[in-house]
Amino acid sequence: MTPPDVRQITAPETHDLRRLVLRNGAVDAMVVWDGDDEPETEHLGVFADGRIVAISTWLVRPDPIAPGRSALQLRGMAADPTQMGMGLGRALLRAGLQRARHSGRDRVWANARLTALGFYESEGWEVSGPVFDTPMTGLPHRHAHRDLD
Ligand SMILES: CC(C)(COP(=O)(O)OP(=O)(O)OC[C@H]1O[C@@H](n2cnc3c(N)ncnc32)[C@H](O)[C@@H]1OP(=O)(O)O)[C@@H](O)C(=O)NCCC(=O)NCCS
Repeated sequence: MTPPDVRQITAPETHDLRRLVLRNGAVDAMVVWDGDDEPETEHLGVFADGRIVAISTWLVRPDPIAPGRSALQLRGMAADPTQMGMGLGRALLRAGLQRARHSGRDRVWANARLTALGFYESEGWEVSGPVFDTPMTGLPHRHAHRDLD
């Protein structure tokens, strides 16, 4: 099978899937997020048939539980509902980690939805700390991180 086609995309190119997958399709959802336009922020997408079918955003942000480390925060990980379970999320995670390593980072972290913890754990991320709701979603999350070799 051909590996997923992961490329850098622009912040506006994340908006449709952010709205559809992460905000339940709400037309008035805020899909422009803090940090989207920072020069070091990277947005990665998976392309299939000329369409973006999965997205993720990687920002330079200290990990609150390991502030001394050189870290990236992953936000806005989402796959098109018609294409979930096909390895696109995994491809994005691995691509993001590879880019993080190349840019000298030694850790990545995320506020991970409880419903997605198994996804992160299947890729070797560690989950820790209490459950908390994020203000933007009102949904329960936990801290997840992965150290980079
Ligand atoms: C979470 C999400 C990004 C995963 O992307 P995906 O392309 O569906 O996942 P993949 O097909 O790459 O799955 C990789 C592995 O994670 C597992 N996995 C995927 N989603 C999972 C979930 N929600 N819970 C537990 N395990 C999950 C898969 O079974 C697979 O493991 P396997 O190879 O052992 O079977 C996607 O399902 C999604 O967009 N979910 C809704 C939005 C969301 O929750 N985003 C994360 C916010 S923190």
